[in-house]
Amino acid sequence: MYDQEKIIELLQTNPQKADITDLLNANEGQQKILLKTAADVKSKYVGNIVYFRGLVEYSNICGKNCKYCGIRKDNKKLCRYTMTDQEVIDAALYAHREKYASIAIQAGELNTEKFVGKITSLLERINAETNNELGITLSLGEQSEETLKMWKEKLGVRRYLLRIETSNRELYEKIHPNDEKHSYQQRLDTLKLLRKLNYQVGTGVMIGLPFQTVENLAEDILFFKNFDVDMIGMGPYIEHSDTPLYEYKDQLLPLAERYNLTLNMIAICRIMFKDINIVASTAMQAIDPKGREEAIMVGANIIMPNLTPQKFRENYLLYQNKPCLNEDAHHCKKCLEKRIRLTGNEIGYGEWGDAKHYFSRQFRKLK
Ligand code: 5AD
Ligand code: SF4
Ligand code: FES
Repeated sequence: MYDQEKIIELLQTNPQKADITDLLNANEGQQKILLKTAADVKSKYVGNIVYFRGLVEYSNICGKNCKYCGIRKDNKKLCRYTMTDQEVIDAALYAHREKYASIAIQAGELNTEKFVGKITSLLERINAETNNELGITLSLGEQSEETLKMWKEKLGVRRYLLRIETSNRELYEKIHPNDEKHSYQQRLDTLKLLRKLNYQVGTGVMIGLPFQTVENLAEDILFFKNFDVDMIGMGPYIEHSDTPLYEYKDQLLPLAERYNLTLNMIAICRIMFKDINIVASTAMQAIDPKGREEAIMVGANIIMPNLTPQKFRENYLLYQNKPCLNEDAHHCKKCLEKRIRLTGNEIGYGEWGDAKHYFSRQFRKLK
């Protein structure tokens, strides 16, 4: 059994894969100490503050066919939608008025000229109508250098989230179709491009995928370290019956174990990376009603209150059991305020809540 001091020493000075794997497997007594250590590190380096990113699930139209995802192109069982310009602007204005300070725009992956042009014009309008005051995060998959450069430099987009899904190339290839649209190399290259363009870069993985081992997850954490990420968004894999990976549902870890592994992943990342931003993912709440609160208590400091109009929510089901389907933006705000208060954290209303790590890297570059 490791005590708090030993955990910090193991994870903060040259962490080894075997030690990370051991800690990922922590349960009961050892887990309690791990989670407590992470809570202390969070409070010391980023404070007990949670920042909001109002989530706009702009469209569920996707050109890809990831084998785990409920909105993959070949799933014909759902109604495809795209929010109108006015609906997007209204969501942004709501976030601005309510002092969320940031929004995140997410959608299925499309790279058509029409889609890119539409996002560009929406960003222009959001900036104009909110006085450039909203911190914008995009999560729109792999895009060209030209597009990513324009969004960053001309439209002031601050952050980009692109999960690597798993850092293990072989596993990546098992959970995606085997074609050039789903290339591991392309994903990695896009992450490198985002870094080159000086975005605050976020990545992450799914936890408890079929074929995934705890060693794979330890490698994922070392991948985050090596990449020097600014933000991490990760959550449990939750099977969806209208996807190809569903056939492996009997080989998965029980949901409770995926949940605990996710808590351990968050805790280890908080202890190792100290001042990055970590998201309390909605998928945690799909397993346990208190999932997002627990993630916050062990190191997460970002939450994404849903701003998508209620009528679209049931069609943005990447996984089943997604919460908040029958709620609207105001209801989710009140609900999260109450839940976050119970964790002893404050909400950083009116603050962008950029990753401190991003600025310390800029400083290191100058030196
Ligand atoms: N379970 C959990 N997370 C999922 N995602 C997609 N499908 C699932 C699923 N079945 C995640 C992926 C993607 C993000 C938008 O949603 O990690 O990057
Ligand atoms: Fe499309 Fe993203 Fe789902 Fe893959 S994970 S099918 S890119 S929405
Ligand atoms: Fe949406 Fe609780 S966060 S209902």
